[in-house]
Amino acid sequence: MSITIKDEAGIAAMREACRLAAEVLDTLTPLIQPGITTLEIDRLAAQAMAAQGTRSATVGYQPPGYPPYPAHVCTSVNQVVCHGIPADKPLKKGDIVNVDVTVITPDGWYGDTSRMFEIGDCSIAARRLCALTYQAMWLGIEQVRAGARLGDIGHAIQKFVEGHGLSVVREFCGHGIGQNFHEEPQVLHYGRPGTGVELEPGMIFTIEPMVNVGRRDIKELPDGWTIVTKDRSLSAQWEHTVLVTPTGYEVLSLSAGAPAIPDFVKGVARAAA
Ligand code: MF3
Ligand code: CO
Ligand code: CO
Repeated sequence: MSITIKDEAGIAAMREACRLAAEVLDTLTPLIQPGITTLEIDRLAAQAMAAQGTRSATVGYQPPGYPPYPAHVCTSVNQVVCHGIPADKPLKKGDIVNVDVTVITPDGWYGDTSRMFEIGDCSIAARRLCALTYQAMWLGIEQVRAGARLGDIGHAIQKFVEGHGLSVVREFCGHGIGQNFHEEPQVLHYGRPGTGVELEPGMIFTIEPMVNVGRRDIKELPDGWTIVTKDRSLSAQWEHTVLVTPTGYEVLSLSAGAPAIPDFVKGVARAAA
């Protein structure tokens, strides 16, 4: 399969799919408090999707070699890097959790976005990790424009993250998205400037860096999904779905409740009017 270029109708459909995914996170945000279990978060997410007329892309999702994913969202707590399976365990003050939402609209378009949530007051190290990972995602997004290359995105993220003494997970990457959950291209969160696929208007992909406080090495748990840091250090991730426009980019997975965009970001919808 090759990289799909979305036409105006596809772009409009993806704007809606991605906004809806973000709005599931908006609905969850006030409820993600000390004492809630990640399984309760999963049920609330399922309810929110039902209310908006979407369905989860993750329930039963089964790439080759994996067991079917059993839940509506991924909930990745503390040292869990990604793909954490919701469980009957309450979140406690000081935890950090990533909630990753992928919805499918009735027309079959996928929207994918994730955010970090800090449970009560967190350590300075945890807050710094979440904030720097958020900035890293936006620095990657800021590289996006027609004519830039995928390596520019990866390099911007890697340089910033490693410059702050943190590490970038290599085994998982962003991805093209549209009428499939995971399409080409793979969007690595490390790399060299000026290398890789050249970006063209109409490409849509996610940028979703996973950043560890300790070493970048990971390990998979026996459930076949949960990925943790090998050294058990904290890990954070943020994810947006982004459209390449002739002059820049448009972040599709924004919503009313999305966290403030960093000051260094020049434009969010920079299409040539
Ligand atoms: N939403 C994840 C991503 O950003 C993929 C989750 S697959 C699952 O690509 F099966 F673990 F849910
Ligand atoms: Co994704
Ligand atoms: Co995701």
